Amino acid sequence: MRATVLSTLAAACSVVVGAAARAIPSPFFSILLEHPYIPPFGDARRSPCPALNSMANHGFLPRDGKNLDLATLVKAQHDVFNFSVELATSIATAGLMLCGSNGTLNLNDLDAHNVIEHDASLTRADAATGDDHTIVPWIVEEVLSYSSDGEVMTLDDFARARVAREAHLPDARLNGTSYVVAASTESVFSHHAFLDESGRGARVEDLRTWYLEERLPYDWAPPAHELGLEEVTKAAADFAKLVDTYR
Ligand code: HEM
Repeated sequence: MRATVLSTLAAACSVVVGAAARAIPSPFFSILLEHPYIPPFGDARRSPCPALNSMANHGFLPRDGKNLDLATLVKAQHDVFNFSVELATSIATAGLMLCGSNGTLNLNDLDAHNVIEHDASLTRADAATGDDHTIVPWIVEEVLSYSSDGEVMTLDDFARARVAREAHLPDARLNGTSYVVAASTESVFSHHAFLDESGRGARVEDLRTWYLEERLPYDWAPPAHELGLEEVTKAAADFAKLVDTYR
Protein backbone atom coordinates (compact mmCIF):
# COMPACT_ATOMS: atom_id res chain seq x y z
CA MET A 1 0.00 0.00 0.00
CA ARG A 2 2.81 2.41 1.00
CA ALA A 3 4.57 1.63 -2.30
CA THR A 4 1.38 2.32 -4.25
CA VAL A 5 0.81 5.67 -2.57
CA LEU A 6 4.47 6.63 -3.10
CA SER A 7 4.37 5.68 -6.77
CA THR A 8 1.12 7.64 -7.14
CA LEU A 9 2.78 10.70 -5.65
CA ALA A 10 5.91 10.24 -7.77
CA ALA A 11 3.89 9.97 -10.97
CA ALA A 12 1.75 12.91 -9.93
CA CYS A 13 4.82 15.04 -9.20
CA SER A 14 6.36 14.20 -12.55
CA VAL A 15 3.19 15.50 -14.16
CA VAL A 16 3.38 18.76 -12.25
CA VAL A 17 7.11 19.22 -12.70
CA GLY A 18 7.21 17.99 -16.28
CA ALA A 19 3.99 19.80 -17.10
CA ALA A 20 4.38 18.50 -20.62
CA ALA A 21 0.90 17.25 -21.24
CA ARG A 22 -1.27 20.04 -19.88
CA ALA A 23 -0.06 23.43 -18.81
CA ILE A 24 -2.04 23.80 -15.61
CA PRO A 25 -2.48 20.93 -13.15
CA SER A 26 -6.16 20.19 -13.01
CA PRO A 27 -8.13 21.08 -9.86
CA PHE A 28 -9.22 17.44 -9.99
CA PHE A 29 -5.60 16.50 -9.28
CA SER A 30 -6.05 16.97 -5.51
CA ILE A 31 -9.17 14.80 -5.61
CA LEU A 32 -7.19 12.09 -7.40
CA LEU A 33 -4.54 12.23 -4.69
CA GLU A 34 -7.28 11.48 -2.19
CA HIS A 35 -8.41 8.65 -4.48
CA PRO A 36 -5.18 6.80 -5.29
CA TYR A 37 -5.17 4.16 -7.97
CA ILE A 38 -5.01 0.74 -6.37
CA PRO A 39 -5.53 -2.23 -8.68
CA PRO A 40 -8.04 -4.83 -7.46
CA PHE A 41 -6.81 -7.39 -4.97
CA GLY A 42 -8.22 -10.30 -2.98
CA ASP A 43 -11.84 -11.02 -3.76
CA ALA A 44 -12.50 -7.69 -5.49
CA ARG A 45 -14.81 -7.87 -8.51
CA ARG A 46 -14.33 -6.10 -11.81
CA SER A 47 -16.42 -5.72 -14.98
CA PRO A 48 -15.86 -5.48 -18.75
CA CYS A 49 -16.33 -1.69 -18.44
CA PRO A 50 -13.24 0.55 -18.18
CA ALA A 51 -15.29 3.33 -16.57
CA LEU A 52 -16.72 1.28 -13.74
CA ASN A 53 -13.40 -0.49 -13.16
CA SER A 54 -11.39 2.74 -13.11
CA MET A 55 -13.86 4.30 -10.69
CA ALA A 56 -13.51 1.27 -8.41
CA ASN A 57 -9.70 1.31 -8.77
CA HIS A 58 -9.73 4.93 -7.56
CA GLY A 59 -12.32 4.39 -4.82
CA PHE A 60 -15.06 6.48 -6.45
CA LEU A 61 -16.97 3.19 -6.34
CA PRO A 62 -16.39 0.65 -3.55
CA ARG A 63 -12.97 -0.83 -4.21
CA ASP A 64 -14.26 -4.38 -3.75
CA GLY A 65 -16.74 -3.85 -6.62
CA LYS A 66 -19.54 -5.50 -4.67
CA ASN A 67 -23.15 -4.64 -3.85
CA LEU A 68 -23.37 -1.46 -5.90
CA ASP A 69 -26.76 0.19 -5.76
CA LEU A 70 -28.41 2.79 -7.97
CA ALA A 71 -27.47 5.84 -5.89
CA THR A 72 -23.80 4.78 -5.71
CA LEU A 73 -23.58 4.14 -9.46
CA VAL A 74 -25.33 7.39 -10.39
CA LYS A 75 -23.24 9.60 -8.09
CA ALA A 76 -19.94 8.15 -9.34
CA GLN A 77 -20.83 8.55 -13.04
CA HIS A 78 -21.97 12.11 -12.40
CA ASP A 79 -19.01 13.14 -10.22
CA VAL A 80 -16.28 11.53 -12.30
CA PHE A 81 -17.47 11.58 -15.93
CA ASN A 82 -19.99 14.42 -15.72
CA PHE A 83 -22.90 12.33 -16.94
CA SER A 84 -26.24 14.01 -16.26
CA VAL A 85 -28.24 12.41 -13.47
CA GLU A 86 -30.82 11.33 -16.07
CA LEU A 87 -28.20 9.64 -18.26
CA ALA A 88 -26.38 8.05 -15.31
CA THR A 89 -29.68 6.78 -13.89
CA SER A 90 -30.75 5.20 -17.17
CA ILE A 91 -27.46 3.30 -17.66
CA ALA A 92 -27.26 2.19 -14.04
CA THR A 93 -30.90 1.08 -14.08
CA ALA A 94 -30.25 -1.00 -17.21
CA GLY A 95 -27.22 -2.59 -15.55
CA LEU A 96 -29.09 -3.34 -12.34
CA MET A 97 -32.19 -4.71 -14.05
CA LEU A 98 -30.38 -6.82 -16.64
CA CYS A 99 -27.44 -8.07 -14.60
CA GLY A 100 -28.06 -7.37 -10.91
CA SER A 101 -30.29 -8.90 -8.32
CA ASN A 102 -32.38 -7.29 -5.58
CA GLY A 103 -31.36 -3.79 -6.62
CA THR A 104 -27.59 -4.26 -6.42
CA LEU A 105 -24.86 -5.71 -8.58
CA ASN A 106 -21.32 -6.94 -8.25
CA LEU A 107 -19.15 -5.64 -11.07
CA ASN A 108 -18.47 -9.13 -12.43
CA ASP A 109 -22.23 -9.64 -12.90
CA LEU A 110 -21.81 -7.43 -15.99
CA ASP A 111 -19.67 -10.17 -17.61
CA ALA A 112 -22.83 -12.03 -18.66
CA HIS A 113 -22.32 -12.50 -22.40
CA ASN A 114 -24.80 -10.94 -24.82
CA VAL A 115 -26.75 -9.27 -22.05
CA ILE A 116 -24.92 -5.94 -22.17
CA GLU A 117 -21.43 -7.33 -22.78
CA HIS A 118 -20.90 -7.99 -26.50
CA ASP A 119 -18.31 -9.15 -29.03
CA ALA A 120 -15.92 -6.87 -30.92
CA SER A 121 -15.10 -4.81 -27.82
CA LEU A 122 -12.46 -2.11 -27.87
CA THR A 123 -10.36 -3.71 -25.14
CA ARG A 124 -11.24 -7.38 -24.81
CA ALA A 125 -11.52 -10.51 -26.97
CA ASP A 126 -14.75 -12.22 -27.97
CA ALA A 127 -16.59 -14.83 -25.92
CA ALA A 128 -15.73 -17.53 -28.49
CA THR A 129 -12.05 -17.28 -27.49
CA GLY A 130 -13.01 -18.45 -24.00
CA ASP A 131 -11.97 -15.19 -22.33
CA ASP A 132 -13.90 -11.98 -22.98
CA HIS A 133 -12.93 -10.44 -19.62
CA THR A 134 -9.18 -9.94 -19.69
CA ILE A 135 -7.81 -6.74 -21.26
CA VAL A 136 -5.89 -7.55 -24.46
CA PRO A 137 -3.15 -4.97 -25.14
CA TRP A 138 -2.89 -5.64 -28.90
CA ILE A 139 -6.61 -5.03 -29.31
CA VAL A 140 -6.30 -1.70 -27.52
CA GLU A 141 -3.30 -0.77 -29.66
CA GLU A 142 -5.12 -1.77 -32.83
CA VAL A 143 -8.03 0.50 -31.86
CA LEU A 144 -5.72 3.41 -31.02
CA SER A 145 -3.80 2.92 -34.28
CA TYR A 146 -6.85 4.33 -36.06
CA SER A 147 -6.03 7.79 -34.71
CA SER A 148 -5.37 9.84 -37.85
CA ASP A 149 -2.79 12.08 -36.19
CA GLY A 150 -1.55 9.77 -33.41
CA GLU A 151 -2.68 12.28 -30.80
CA VAL A 152 -6.45 12.13 -30.61
CA MET A 153 -9.21 9.76 -31.61
CA THR A 154 -11.97 11.61 -33.44
CA LEU A 155 -15.41 10.03 -33.82
CA ASP A 156 -14.37 9.28 -37.38
CA ASP A 157 -11.31 7.41 -36.08
CA PHE A 158 -13.49 5.49 -33.60
CA ALA A 159 -15.85 4.56 -36.46
CA ARG A 160 -13.03 3.07 -38.54
CA ALA A 161 -11.68 1.25 -35.48
CA ARG A 162 -15.15 -0.21 -34.85
CA VAL A 163 -15.36 -1.55 -38.40
CA ALA A 164 -11.95 -3.18 -37.89
CA ARG A 165 -13.02 -4.74 -34.59
CA GLU A 166 -16.15 -6.18 -36.20
CA ALA A 167 -14.44 -7.37 -39.40
CA HIS A 168 -13.72 -10.83 -37.95
CA LEU A 169 -17.34 -11.49 -36.92
CA PRO A 170 -19.34 -13.89 -39.14
CA ASP A 171 -21.32 -11.03 -40.75
CA ALA A 172 -18.48 -8.50 -40.34
CA ARG A 173 -20.79 -6.54 -38.07
CA LEU A 174 -22.38 -6.72 -34.65
CA ASN A 175 -25.91 -8.00 -34.88
CA GLY A 176 -28.73 -7.05 -32.55
CA THR A 177 -29.91 -3.50 -32.08
CA SER A 178 -28.97 -3.41 -28.41
CA TYR A 179 -25.37 -4.39 -29.11
CA VAL A 180 -25.05 -1.85 -31.90
CA VAL A 181 -26.42 0.82 -29.58
CA ALA A 182 -24.11 -0.31 -26.76
CA ALA A 183 -21.04 -0.35 -29.00
CA SER A 184 -21.86 3.07 -30.49
CA THR A 185 -22.47 4.53 -27.06
CA GLU A 186 -19.14 3.21 -25.79
CA SER A 187 -17.24 5.09 -28.51
CA VAL A 188 -19.26 8.24 -27.81
CA PHE A 189 -18.52 7.86 -24.08
CA SER A 190 -14.78 7.40 -24.70
CA HIS A 191 -14.79 10.49 -26.92
CA HIS A 192 -16.65 12.53 -24.29
CA ALA A 193 -14.57 11.42 -21.31
CA PHE A 194 -11.15 12.22 -22.76
CA LEU A 195 -11.91 15.01 -25.24
CA ASP A 196 -8.87 17.26 -25.59
CA GLU A 197 -8.92 21.01 -25.03
CA SER A 198 -9.35 21.74 -28.75
CA GLY A 199 -12.44 19.52 -28.94
CA ARG A 200 -10.92 17.58 -31.86
CA GLY A 201 -11.00 14.17 -30.22
CA ALA A 202 -10.12 12.02 -27.22
CA ARG A 203 -6.45 12.02 -26.23
CA VAL A 204 -4.78 8.78 -27.31
CA GLU A 205 -2.47 8.71 -24.28
CA ASP A 206 -5.40 9.09 -21.89
CA LEU A 207 -7.34 6.36 -23.66
CA ARG A 208 -4.32 4.04 -23.49
CA THR A 209 -4.03 4.58 -19.73
CA TRP A 210 -7.75 4.14 -19.21
CA TYR A 211 -8.24 1.12 -21.46
CA LEU A 212 -5.07 -0.74 -20.44
CA GLU A 213 -4.66 0.13 -16.75
CA GLU A 214 -8.22 1.17 -15.90
CA ARG A 215 -6.67 4.20 -14.28
CA LEU A 216 -7.52 7.90 -14.56
CA PRO A 217 -4.54 9.90 -15.86
CA TYR A 218 -2.98 12.17 -13.23
CA ASP A 219 -3.39 15.27 -15.37
CA TRP A 220 -6.95 14.49 -16.37
CA ALA A 221 -10.07 16.31 -15.23
CA PRO A 222 -13.72 15.40 -15.63
CA PRO A 223 -15.21 16.78 -18.85
CA ALA A 224 -16.50 20.33 -18.43
CA HIS A 225 -19.53 19.51 -20.54
CA GLU A 226 -22.33 17.55 -18.86
CA LEU A 227 -23.39 14.70 -21.13
CA GLY A 228 -27.16 14.27 -21.33
CA LEU A 229 -29.37 11.33 -22.29
CA GLU A 230 -30.91 12.97 -25.35
CA GLU A 231 -27.50 14.07 -26.60
CA VAL A 232 -26.07 10.56 -26.23
CA THR A 233 -29.04 8.97 -27.97
CA LYS A 234 -28.56 11.22 -30.98
CA ALA A 235 -24.76 10.93 -30.95
CA ALA A 236 -24.92 7.12 -30.82
CA ALA A 237 -27.37 7.00 -33.75
CA ASP A 238 -25.14 9.37 -35.76
CA PHE A 239 -22.10 7.26 -34.86
CA ALA A 240 -23.79 4.05 -36.05
CA LYS A 241 -24.51 5.75 -39.40
CA LEU A 242 -20.90 6.90 -39.62
CA VAL A 243 -19.71 3.34 -38.99
CA ASP A 244 -21.91 2.13 -41.84
CA THR A 245 -20.24 4.51 -44.26
CA TYR A 246 -16.94 2.67 -43.65
CA ARG A 247 -18.23 -0.87 -44.18
C1 HEM B 1 -23.73 1.83 -14.32
C2 HEM B 1 -23.14 2.29 -15.40
C3 HEM B 1 -22.50 1.43 -16.44
C4 HEM B 1 -22.72 0.12 -16.78
C5 HEM B 1 -23.73 -0.85 -16.17
C6 HEM B 1 -21.79 -0.23 -17.84
C7 HEM B 1 -21.69 -1.47 -18.42
C8 HEM B 1 -20.78 -1.82 -19.40
C9 HEM B 1 -20.60 -3.14 -19.94
C10 HEM B 1 -21.37 -4.38 -19.52
C11 HEM B 1 -19.64 -3.07 -20.88
C12 HEM B 1 -19.07 -4.21 -21.75
C13 HEM B 1 -19.40 -4.05 -23.21
C14 HEM B 1 -18.46 -4.86 -24.08
O1 HEM B 1 -18.60 -6.07 -24.17
O2 HEM B 1 -17.55 -4.27 -24.68
C15 HEM B 1 -19.20 -1.71 -20.94
C16 HEM B 1 -18.22 -1.25 -21.78
C17 HEM B 1 -17.84 0.05 -21.86
N1 HEM B 1 -18.25 1.08 -21.06
FE1 HEM B 1 -19.56 0.97 -19.54
N2 HEM B 1 -21.05 0.88 -18.14
C18 HEM B 1 -21.43 1.91 -17.32
C19 HEM B 1 -20.92 3.19 -17.30
C20 HEM B 1 -20.00 3.67 -18.17
C21 HEM B 1 -19.50 5.02 -18.19
C22 HEM B 1 -19.86 6.11 -17.17
C23 HEM B 1 -18.63 5.11 -19.25
C24 HEM B 1 -17.79 6.26 -19.76
C25 HEM B 1 -17.41 7.28 -19.16
C26 HEM B 1 -18.56 3.80 -19.86
C27 HEM B 1 -17.75 3.48 -20.93
C28 HEM B 1 -17.61 2.22 -21.47
C29 HEM B 1 -16.75 1.91 -22.59
C30 HEM B 1 -15.86 2.86 -23.36
C31 HEM B 1 -16.89 0.55 -22.84
C32 HEM B 1 -16.25 -0.27 -23.98
C33 HEM B 1 -15.13 -1.17 -23.53
C34 HEM B 1 -14.73 -2.12 -24.62
O3 HEM B 1 -15.26 -2.06 -25.73
O4 HEM B 1 -13.84 -2.94 -24.39
N3 HEM B 1 -19.39 2.97 -19.18
N4 HEM B 1 -19.89 -0.97 -20.01
